[in-house]
Amino acid sequence: MACLQRQFPEHEVELIDPLDYQLGEAFKPHFAYVKSEVPEQLDTLAKKIASADGYIMVSPEYNHSMSPALAHLLNHFGSSLYSYKPSAIVTYSAGQWGGMRAALGMRTFLSELGCLPVSAMVHVPKAQEVFAEDGSPLEDVDGDRWHDYLSRAFLQLFWWAEATKKQRSAVDPHTMIRNFTRDPSQRNAP
Ligand SMILES: Cc1cc2nc3c(=O)[nH]c(=O)nc-3n(C[C@H](O)[C@H](O)[C@H](O)COP(=O)(O)O)c2cc1C
Repeated sequence: MACLQRQFPEHEVELIDPLDYQLGEAFKPHFAYVKSEVPEQLDTLAKKIASADGYIMVSPEYNHSMSPALAHLLNHFGSSLYSYKPSAIVTYSAGQWGGMRAALGMRTFLSELGCLPVSAMVHVPKAQEVFAEDGSPLEDVDGDRWHDYLSRAFLQLFWWAEATKKQRSAVDPHTMIRNFTRDPSQRNAP
């Protein structure tokens, strides 16, 4: 702020801090709670994430990015719960690209969580012409073609889920490779 005001004294600069606005509950991730005080719903979700063998991440495109609601939910859990498993990306949008730009960002996001995305992705352009409001496919939609399209990503996910499940039971990755749980600087180069 001081630098901006010095550089542009004739301009008005205002700091807007998201913490000053009640836009939702304060963020507190699962791993930040004392174990006995973790909210039940959050703990149930943590157990679901930990016990899954793979994930299908479904998101609309918002400003060329993934859904803030999905990112917010995923951010509540440490990467050790997601890692050494595959994920598949499914995006949709009202426009012609079907959430492709959000999907590219999701690849980075999911890689950081350790649930590596498979190469095939699903994009649904003009989602309002494919699905009814309740999520069921509209009548004139070619179900077989959609099934074929979806299958590629889902079969890749299935293959990787089976493979990583076998390898996780042969060699526990959390024993073989340290989880970083103390500080982000644990990842730093020497
Ligand atoms: C804030 C906002 C930003 C959006 N940004 C994009 C966008 O970048 N690209 C796009 O194709 N559609 C965009 N859309 C349209 C959404 O993808 C579309 O409305 C979608 O149906 C939203 O999914 P939902 O109804 O499940 O929330 C945006 C919609 C909103 C409300």
